[in-house]
Amino acid sequence: MSPLITIAVRAARAAGDFLLRTGERLDELRVEMKGPNDFVSEADREAERRIVEIIRRAYPDHAILGEEGGAQGDVGSHGARWIIDPLDGTTNYLHGLPWYAVSIGLEIKGRLEIGVVYDPGRNELFVAERGKGARLNDRRLRVSAQTRLPGAVVGTGFPFKSHQHLDAYTETFKAVSRAGCAVRRAGSAALDLAYVAAGRFDGFWELGLQAWDIAAGVLLIREAGGVVTDIRGGDQIMKTGNVVGGTLRVHQALLDTIKPHLGADLPA
Ligand code: IPD
Ligand code: CA
Ligand code: CA
Repeated sequence: MSPLITIAVRAARAAGDFLLRTGERLDELRVEMKGPNDFVSEADREAERRIVEIIRRAYPDHAILGEEGGAQGDVGSHGARWIIDPLDGTTNYLHGLPWYAVSIGLEIKGRLEIGVVYDPGRNELFVAERGKGARLNDRRLRVSAQTRLPGAVVGTGFPFKSHQHLDAYTETFKAVSRAGCAVRRAGSAALDLAYVAAGRFDGFWELGLQAWDIAAGVLLIREAGGVVTDIRGGDQIMKTGNVVGGTLRVHQALLDTIKPHLGADLPA
């Protein structure tokens, strides 16, 4: 294991194990609203603090982008930036729903190099390293063999914080459902992407995600032999957060199904 992965895994486990313990006393947690339907708790903040502490100790000059702490440090000549969602699936977590994860990605000179998604409740650790494949615990990951939408199981996320693209999204939802997919909305984009990598989902799409929701999951899918792009099939995925992923064929079929329903105002 490369030293960078060792640190990413240590940080993800420290945060995830903290979240798991804290999840036993949810009624004591202070919760604030960041925006409509957008909650943050002490648990999100403390989990991120633990992750940043571990990364900083090992790599004091690396830049960090955390959902709660924002951008810290400069991307220097090494070009390394850690992209962190300490708790992806906060709404689930705060309701005692066991579907949430820690997501940590590392980008070097704008290219994703490492992705770790950790689901502490199931003790499932998804790890990807560019060019070296993806694993779930000790098992090598491969996307599913699904080639068509009929019969595919596809993850998604509803636009519940901002309703700007709700109409366009609803049309894509109808189209994907009519194409014969079983659609699942579980509540953690990071885990959804990891599940595509693991072949549990055949595909995934969502609009308006953030870099920290997807950095690790995007690399997991690619390293597991899948394809993930922005919703117009391009590479603006980290900028726009509009994501389509899946097996080679399911990804293409999802793009073809979704594209006709996107308004011209929706960025790639
Ligand atoms: C959210 C989850 C959810 C997705 C939202 C995200 P958070 O992240 O990934 O599945 O639909 O768009 O914001 O707020 O729980 O970290
Ligand atoms: Ca998130
Ligand atoms: Ca979060």
